Amino acid sequence: MGRKSSKAKEKKQKRLEERAVMDAVCAKVEAANKLDDPLEAFPLFKKYDRNGLNISIECKKVSSLDQATVDWAFELTKTNMETLYEQSEWGWKDREKRDELTDDRAWYLIAWEEGSSPVAFIHFRFDVECGDEVLYCYEAQLEIKVRRKGLGKFLIQILQLMANSTQMKKVMLTVFKHNHGAYQFFREALQFEIDETSPSMSGCCGDDCSYEILSRRTKYGEGQHTHSNSHSGGCCH
Ligand SMILES: CC(C)(COP(=O)(O)OP(=O)(O)OC[C@H]1O[C@@H](n2cnc3c(N)ncnc32)[C@H](O)[C@@H]1OP(=O)(O)O)[C@@H](O)C(=O)NCCC(=O)NCCS
Repeated sequence: MGRKSSKAKEKKQKRLEERAVMDAVCAKVEAANKLDDPLEAFPLFKKYDRNGLNISIECKKVSSLDQATVDWAFELTKTNMETLYEQSEWGWKDREKRDELTDDRAWYLIAWEEGSSPVAFIHFRFDVECGDEVLYCYEAQLEIKVRRKGLGKFLIQILQLMANSTQMKKVMLTVFKHNHGAYQFFREALQFEIDETSPSMSGCCGDDCSYEILSRRTKYGEGQHTHSNSHSGGCCH
């Protein structure tokens, strides 16, 4: 009897602790989403003047973008990605991509050339993934004319800085294995790791999947492993 009730107490205590951890995770994500401009703390990263580019960068919630910019982001994504999606188990659907790009939680980094026309963007979100607070990069899209000039690397560096300053544990993203350029960019040039939640890490069916989930930890996620965390609440993918 005595033992049983102490076990029940222990279980309750553990539940309470897990709830407190989850509340703290959600509070961090909420606080990040309430910011006006997560890039404000890094003024040096609002300009990119290298390799012949003269770029200004701004960070905005989707609700602050004008329709022309949203339409441009959709068209650029379609131009860059439609064939790659069609070669995967996902297929391409205009409506789904538009809905994703315009979701209320969407944040954008937009790179403007000479201050007038957009040439690159990142769509990202502060979110909870498998029990961890993360900055998830949904889209990194550059027009062809500004590629291989270090801009993509610069924009991902900004994500890493913002993830650190908002106390997220990691920057995450999904990449098609057959998108060889992007795969090399993230895995080799930027040293992203295959995330422990990626299908290829599950020990089964990874080879059938056309994508990997990649991540890079911030100082808040160092030494942590999602799957061994007692608080990890069910995987979202
Ligand atoms: C992938 C992408 C974001 C990279 O941005 P970028 O500004 O062109 O890349 P950077 O100039 O910062 O590249 C840094 C390094 O990454 C590597 N790299 C970048 N693009 C590469 C490619 N296509 N093939 C091989 N390596 C590449 C190189 O090592 C490069 O250094 P180097 O140019 O000195 O050799 C950009 O090419 C793009 O928008 N592609 C189309 C859309 C896409 O596939 N997005 C990714 C979806 S997950």
